[in-house]
Amino acid sequence: MLDISLHLLDLMQNCAHSGATRVEVMVHEDETQDLLEVTVKDNGQGMDEETVRRAMDPFYSSSPKRVGLGLPFIAQAASIAGGCVRVDSTPGGGTEVTATFQLSHLDRQPIGDLAATAVSFLAGNPGTELSIVYRGRFGRAFSFGTLEGVPLEMRTGLGQIGFLALVEERLRGGLADAGFGPDGGGHTN
Ligand SMILES: Nc1ncnc2c1ncn2[C@@H]1O[C@H](COP(=O)(O)OP(=O)(O)OP(=O)(O)O)[C@@H](O)[C@H]1O
Ligand SMILES: [Mg+2]
Repeated sequence: MLDISLHLLDLMQNCAHSGATRVEVMVHEDETQDLLEVTVKDNGQGMDEETVRRAMDPFYSSSPKRVGLGLPFIAQAASIAGGCVRVDSTPGGGTEVTATFQLSHLDRQPIGDLAATAVSFLAGNPGTELSIVYRGRFGRAFSFGTLEGVPLEMRTGLGQIGFLALVEERLRGGLADAGFGPDGGGHTN
């Protein structure tokens, strides 16, 4: 996995598989605490304690393919960059996965292309309400929600390309205004 947004895409797919209709992604670059925190939260079916524990095992997956690398991979990326992963979940109560990284850590992966990640997720999950919240440097912030006035007919079929283009444009613009820029990873901080 080359960048954090690809890990985020995997976590978002986990949400979709759990039956979520709402997925919230939060990215917080906190220079004063030298911390990068990313959170993916859903309203899906959730997990019991035992499943949460097993979810971090690469040889556990509830899908038929029997390996589940999404969580172990992001946990590894976080841990080599001085951070960790927390999973907070209850059956029927949704799931929240948070990964932390030391922002300036030499081995911290670049955040990557958040707008492209959101668009690829929505291309496969057009009915999901996706919100992206970015808090960046100098206290600037940007938040975006896909259901703001866009009916499902316009998000699927012939309308889908236009919808995805609009989402990408809004996200790129808003993120750039909030100071989200090309990020080469921890070694460039
Ligand atoms: N948001 C979530 N809601 C409910 N269950 C989850 C969630 N995220 C992970 N899980 C459970 O944890 C398991 C492991 O997740 P992980 O992402 O590591 O692997 P996977 O999704 O099964 O496979 P891969 O990510 O390699 O395609 C999942 O199969 C699922 O049972
Ligand atoms: Mg997964």
